[in-house]
Amino acid sequence: MKRFVQVGCGIRGIEGYAEPILKEYRDHVQLCGVYDVNHKRAALVSHYGGVEVPVYDDFDKMLNDVKPHTVIVTTKDCMHDFYVIKALKAGCDVIVEKPLTTTFEKANAIKKAEEESGKHVTVVFNLRYLPIFVKLKELISSGVIGDVLSVHFEWLLDTQHGADYFRRWHRQRENSGSLLVHKSTHHFDLVNWFLDDDPVAVNAFGSRRFYGPTRENRSERCLTCQHKDTCEFYLDINQPPMDKLYLECEDVDGYYRDRCIFSEEIDIEDSVSVNVLYKKGAVMSYSLTAHSPYEGMRIAFNGSEGRLEFCKIDGRYPELRKGVDNVITIINRKGEKITMNEPTDGPGGHGGADERIQENLFVGCTSDPLGQMADTRAGMMSIGIGMAANVSMAENRRVYLSEFYGDL
Ligand SMILES: NC(=O)c1ccc[n+]([C@@H]2O[C@H](COP(=O)([O-])OP(=O)(O)OC[C@H]3O[C@@H](n4cnc5c(N)ncnc54)[C@H](O)[C@@H]3O)[C@@H](O)[C@H]2O)c1
Repeated sequence: MKRFVQVGCGIRGIEGYAEPILKEYRDHVQLCGVYDVNHKRAALVSHYGGVEVPVYDDFDKMLNDVKPHTVIVTTKDCMHDFYVIKALKAGCDVIVEKPLTTTFEKANAIKKAEEESGKHVTVVFNLRYLPIFVKLKELISSGVIGDVLSVHFEWLLDTQHGADYFRRWHRQRENSGSLLVHKSTHHFDLVNWFLDDDPVAVNAFGSRRFYGPTRENRSERCLTCQHKDTCEFYLDINQPPMDKLYLECEDVDGYYRDRCIFSEEIDIEDSVSVNVLYKKGAVMSYSLTAHSPYEGMRIAFNGSEGRLEFCKIDGRYPELRKGVDNVITIINRKGEKITMNEPTDGPGGHGGADERIQENLFVGCTSDPLGQMADTRAGMMSIGIGMAANVSMAENRRVYLSEFYGDL
């Protein structure tokens, strides 16, 4: 049986990896050790998994003692490279959560370490497993709208989900690379995958005008805030699973899960607009809004033979979903319209995508006709757009990925 270890035992690490391994996949994979800078949080793996797992206070010692086949990396984003490279150098394969990392330099270092080690890095892009996105991939690949000439893509986070990125480590670009890397890596990866193409050049604008110090009534955190009775963004950290995972572990590392979203410390954008040129010639206009009154996404592909439109609205907005959610519309050059009403998301994490990818990660992937298992290159290409957008905004210019990646 394959020996796995895991570094990073936050909500994603536990719910997406440790817990399913210890419960559903224990006949396939053995979780032989966990490490986190916060030892209290790491110790919760045994609590959630219902099985005692050794908690290490040193990552290198864990590698040395266990000699794992695979290391799972689910720390905050800016630390991914540190553990991925150490694991590769120790002769392990790696499963790393998106985003692969947060800077071009770190991405290149991961690629070099992987090549030198002869081991393999899998980047977890669970959205490639959402049935509706699989359907879009199949339709685009089938040539139903011909060659894709342009893409129009809008992603909306509501003020419940969107605000959450402004409470935690994500809100500082040194940790997350900004939402353009942390969040949009999912979206850029989908388009790269749908088109089976590489991004070449990026132009971007961004602003932060909703979160950050935009209101006087603010505090360090919700728990002790004098405005909690009136603030619509108040988050009760005494609620599970936040109480156990974060509140009760705070004394170790001072990680407050409920920091004020109106803090001066926030240095990431909450509205971004990005243009991308692809190698085969397609162009994309993309936007991410982190303060929308509802959550969802819209994408349209304009092809040589027609146009494909798709809309998805989160289940928390049943009224807005009616008639538009999960509807694919194809309009051909004769003006004929084909409408497909796809089933809505299934149960499970991220509409059931998490459970589908777990089978491949923990049991093994024997067949992958749609190329859903993503590697280092795919990880680099998707963050490449976000990181190039960051450079574009900082330097007020068009940025080519080749400036940083060479001929990848
Ligand atoms: N694919 C998805 O849909 C999805 C969803 C959520 C999160 N994620 C990714 O999973 C990762 C974890 O996110 P999360 O929401 O669980 O965050 P989290 O803050 O809950 O957990 C991060 C953990 O990393 C630990 N950590 C921080 N610095 C560390 C270091 N130097 N060494 C070791 N451990 C360290 C923290 O103590 C914490 O336990 C992120 O990379 C995020 O992008 C992916």
